Amino acid sequence: MQWISSFVIASLTAGFILTGCDSKPPATGPTPPPTPPQPAEDPLATRLGFFASMSGAQASFGNDAINGARLALDQINAAGGVLGHPVKLIVKDTQSRIDETSIAVNQLITEDKVAALIGEIATDRSLVAAPIAQAKGVPMITPGSTNEKVTATGDYIFRVCFTDAFQAAVMAKFARSLDAVKAAILFDPSNPYSSGLAESFKKDFLAGRGTIVAEEFYRAGDKDFATQLNSIKARMPEIVFLPSYYGESALIIRQARQAGLDVPFLGTDGWDSPEFLKVGGEAVNNCYFSCHFAAESESPEVRDFVEAYTAKHGTPPPPLAALAYDAVSLAVDGLKRSGTTEGAPFRDALAATKDFPGVTGKISLDQDRNPTKPGIVIRVEDGKFTYLETVEAPQRVEMVPPAAQAAPAPQVEATVQPAN
Ligand code: PHE
Repeated sequence: MQWISSFVIASLTAGFILTGCDSKPPATGPTPPPTPPQPAEDPLATRLGFFASMSGAQASFGNDAINGARLALDQINAAGGVLGHPVKLIVKDTQSRIDETSIAVNQLITEDKVAALIGEIATDRSLVAAPIAQAKGVPMITPGSTNEKVTATGDYIFRVCFTDAFQAAVMAKFARSLDAVKAAILFDPSNPYSSGLAESFKKDFLAGRGTIVAEEFYRAGDKDFATQLNSIKARMPEIVFLPSYYGESALIIRQARQAGLDVPFLGTDGWDSPEFLKVGGEAVNNCYFSCHFAAESESPEVRDFVEAYTAKHGTPPPPLAALAYDAVSLAVDGLKRSGTTEGAPFRDALAATKDFPGVTGKISLDQDRNPTKPGIVIRVEDGKFTYLETVEAPQRVEMVPPAAQAAPAPQVEATVQPAN
């Protein structure tokens, strides 16, 4: 039966696109018929505020996320909405900027009177939004901010993604599975996502009796990484850990190959964008990163979601679409369970989330409002992201048995202070 529904949705979408493209009146010829009146808006619609980077340095994150959020909304409203009314999404573009994020969040709360906030994606912007949401008593669910400090802001702040401690452990363990005992780390100390991951990876890799042979630094917006890459190359690591967003990561790996540093780079969820492949080209082949979702999964929830998303957007859903779909769905589930949009009981219902069937996995929130979910390792190969393996949480980096040890003891061989 699935092909029938996908055919119907595909036809409806195609019809919509055709009429949608033709909305400008032709220069000559008959006057087009007036646009039909829109159905009156329900003044009691439940408002959810969505804020993410739809332009600027991480535009890819917000654009992926909004597509997933809108699909969830369509399905929720087709099934009758929540609390007897439709759900409305009020969308703000943070432009990948911290100042715009606090403006957006304040507006959503004060002017738009949203019941919940869905956003941001990047950790540093969620760290600005969370204290505002907490102070105003409006639940915030971040689809993708993985840094521990985001939900630690307070009891109104939730996430549907795994945390950085987990993805760092996944990648440290993965490094060991490549037989790497000597790693370099290149990160941005001014970005809490990048620095938190670098710290966690270092701890886990050392615990697995690996050695960190170099630590180097860059800053967001840098374009030339030759100095850092040459110094890493001189230390002969077997892998380089690069916890960074897609823009810088792709540039860095390209320049690494030009500098003759040919070892695999290992990254985290922030690599996830078609831009990474576009900018990185051949240079990013044979690199690996942790991520939240693989459209290849066989579970029925995922299959239905992938089918509906593909029918609507023409491509399979990227991880951030899946995470935002889950964040919106969880917000509405919380409203259903609390029976009210009032902050405190709604917050309590969200905090009690157990076995919520998300498309990114089952979501049960712990006392710190974080889910325990599996992670996925992606290999970059032939200019594509390829699913490699699913890693269950929690994750520890095992000590390597003495016979297999190449490094005598855990140690940091080189520590370079960040340049100002
Ligand atoms: N985890 C990233 C952060 O906290 C954001 C991100 C999530 C990016 C998912 C891509 C995919 O900043």
